[in-house]
Amino acid sequence: MSEPLLALDGICTDYGKICTLRDVSLTVGEGEVVALLGLNGAGKTTTMRTILGLTPPRLGTITYAGRDVTRWPAYKIARLGIGYVPEGRRMFKDLSTLENLQLAENGRAGAWTIPRVFEHLPKLSELRARKAGRLSGGEQEMLAIGRALVANPRLLLVDEPSQGLAPLVVEDVYRILAELKKTGVAILLVEQNALLALKLADRAYVLDSGRITHSGPAADLATDRARIRSLMGLEVTAR
Ligand SMILES: Nc1ncnc2c1ncn2[C@@H]1O[C@H](COP(=O)(O)OP(=O)(O)OP(=O)(O)O)[C@@H](O)[C@H]1O
Ligand SMILES: [Mg+2]
Repeated sequence: MSEPLLALDGICTDYGKICTLRDVSLTVGEGEVVALLGLNGAGKTTTMRTILGLTPPRLGTITYAGRDVTRWPAYKIARLGIGYVPEGRRMFKDLSTLENLQLAENGRAGAWTIPRVFEHLPKLSELRARKAGRLSGGEQEMLAIGRALVANPRLLLVDEPSQGLAPLVVEDVYRILAELKKTGVAILLVEQNALLALKLADRAYVLDSGRITHSGPAADLATDRARIRSLMGLEVTAR
C-alpha cells in the first residue's frame, strides 16, 4: 500500500495539565474521506488543531506528504496545502463574500480559483457583494468551504459543517463536500451527526475521551446501530 497523505502516530495533546488526546493514531489517504466521530468534548477539534500546528502535541509524530511536520508552526503547515473549515465558520463579518475569498487566496497555484469556486457554489456568486456577517448559517458554511478551497488544499479539515443548519441546507453542504471528494481532495470530516458523515466517508474513527475506540470502513460502522446511537448521544435500547 502506498504511504498515506496524513498520518498521526501516538499523538498526545494537552491543554496545560489536562491531557486531551491520548495515543491517537490515524491516517488519511490521498483523495480519501475519513470521518472522525465522537461526543461533545471527545477531542475532535483538538485533533484538527494538533494537525494544523495550532496546539502542538506533547508526544507522537505527524507525517504529511512524506514529511515529518510534528511541531511545525501553523503558517508552515498551511503552506503545505492543508485547508481548514473551522467549527462556527469564523469569517470577516464586515467584509463581503468576494473579499473574504480574496483574502484567502494565498498564491498557491492550482485548480481552485475564485471563478471556479463560484461555478461550483453559484449561490456564493449571487452573494458576492453581501457582507459575510449578513449571510445565513448555510451561506456562511459555503463561504467557509469556498475560502478553504481557493488556497488549493490537498487535504481539507472540516469541523462540524452541519452544526446549526436546517436539514435542507445540510443536504446542500454535503452535496458540495461530495463534489469535492470527486475532484480528489482528501477530507478529514468531524461530525456530531454520525450517519450523515458516514454516507460520505470511506473510513471512520471514533474518539472517546481522547482515545480512538474504533476504526474501520464507514459502511460497516453505519450498520452498527448500537454504536451509532451512542455516538449520536442517544440511549442504546434493547432489541
Ligand atoms: N483551550 C482549551 N483549554 C483547555 N481545555 C480545552 C481547550 N479546548 C478544549 N479543551 C478541552 O479539551 C477537550 C476536548 O475538546 P474538543 O474541543 O477537542 O472536543 P470536540 O470533540 O471538538 O467537542 P465538540 O463536539 O463539543 O466540538 C474538552 O474537555 C475541552 O473542554
Ligand atoms: Mg469541536
